Amino acid sequence: MRTLIKHLLSSSEPREQITAQGWVRTRRDSKGFSFLELNDGSCLANLQVVVDPNAEGFGDLPQLSTGASAMVEGRLVASPAAGQKWEMQATRVRLIGTVDSSYPLQKKGHSLEFLRTIAHLRPRSNLFGAVFRTRSRLALAVHQFFQERDFVYVHTPIITASDCEGAGEMFRVTTLKGSDSQPPEADFFGKPTYLTVSGQLEGETFACALSNIYTFGPTFRAENSNTSRHAAEFWMIEPEMAFCDLTGDMELGETFIKAMACYVLDHCAEDLGLFSKFVDKELLSRLRFVVDRPFQRVAYTEAVDLLKKSGKSFEYPVEYGQNLQSEHERFLTEELFRCPVTVFNYPREIKPFYMRLNDDQKTVTAMDILVPGIGEVIGGAQREERLDVLRENMRYHKLREEDYGWYADLRRYGTVPHAGFGVGFERLLMFLTGVGNIRDVIPFPRTPGNADY
Ligand code: 4AD
Ligand code: MG
Repeated sequence: MRTLIKHLLSSSEPREQITAQGWVRTRRDSKGFSFLELNDGSCLANLQVVVDPNAEGFGDLPQLSTGASAMVEGRLVASPAAGQKWEMQATRVRLIGTVDSSYPLQKKGHSLEFLRTIAHLRPRSNLFGAVFRTRSRLALAVHQFFQERDFVYVHTPIITASDCEGAGEMFRVTTLKGSDSQPPEADFFGKPTYLTVSGQLEGETFACALSNIYTFGPTFRAENSNTSRHAAEFWMIEPEMAFCDLTGDMELGETFIKAMACYVLDHCAEDLGLFSKFVDKELLSRLRFVVDRPFQRVAYTEAVDLLKKSGKSFEYPVEYGQNLQSEHERFLTEELFRCPVTVFNYPREIKPFYMRLNDDQKTVTAMDILVPGIGEVIGGAQREERLDVLRENMRYHKLREEDYGWYADLRRYGTVPHAGFGVGFERLLMFLTGVGNIRDVIPFPRTPGNADY
């Protein structure tokens, strides 16, 4: 394995014969010298390479312009320049791949909108390098969090016949050609199938055997909402716990958010430094605040009262029995409580069939965790474990019981109280980096009208 620039730059002493490869960020020529800034994506910092006319390959320098790839060899020495510990004095430079003047990342300071149109090149920019390194580390942190607590990682199916959220926002999976002329029985699976909107129902079957489980995989929603927080393809983490109620569920969700904030503060310091400088000046203080302080918990009914009494005029009016809109969620976290807020016990009519009916017969044991800047990042619930109530819920939500026989079986054979939630991985990443648009934390975003690459 070659040595990455990240490791060269964290060297504890000067080194004689080193090699580095990467892409040229900039080249400055001064009298008798050239300075190359080389980046290989392993970290935010560039390796500064000083090339003098004695270096082999000095003649290649004119072609080593922004975007070209190169290999350099030389000595790692203490840098006289401020802001960096080491630089390379090159004994040899070699051009690997040339670049022409059409290279779109020539200059700094492109807009995020422009960079979205070159999603194949944007990982070479400082910001996107930092976002996708953080995304990778956060994925590891998610697994660590659950594995340390003995949750079993379950791979739930991506193709499914059930609509977990009951919202009908599913992409159809079919091999049928043409349109309506053929019956669903003629299709590949012998019935209509879809890309999953959630692995929860299948996850529950494993929780009712292995106690604590989690899923972490891609999820698909055909909702036509062109917002900065919705994607048609996103990743979701869904823990599910047997012998657990709503309180245990909220505790796990809140602990998880805190742990993820703690993790990036500890493990992604260099990249967070970039976000807090160029994306969101409040980022570090907000993350520390989230780590240190308890989350606010408030019942849905109380949240509605608080919103109504706030005197604030919202675009969407606040009414009991309506879903909270993003502006309402953000008001609760950013203005009223000024911290993450867990809202629980929502009206039955706006939540899916699987949530447990409370004794008031009006609300269900749902909970959403809302964070400043984003709104909902987690949605979860204690599940209905009583067979008769579950069947009644299915009728209430107009689901066909025969389609969910296996799900009802969990209540028929050794039922237990159980609970879980789903975390939108991209929303979590937005919260932890300060990046304001979901399209900028997914390598190749899929949104209505957009499936390039
Ligand atoms: O609240 P949701 O719809 O909950 C479920 O799907 C449950 N079955 C989860 C469970 O209890 N196991 O989605 C969970 C989270 C949301 O809080 C949000 O963060 C994210 O998934 N999410 C989206 N993220 C990006 N784009 C979308 N279109 C999203 N829809 C939901
Ligand atoms: Mg939700």
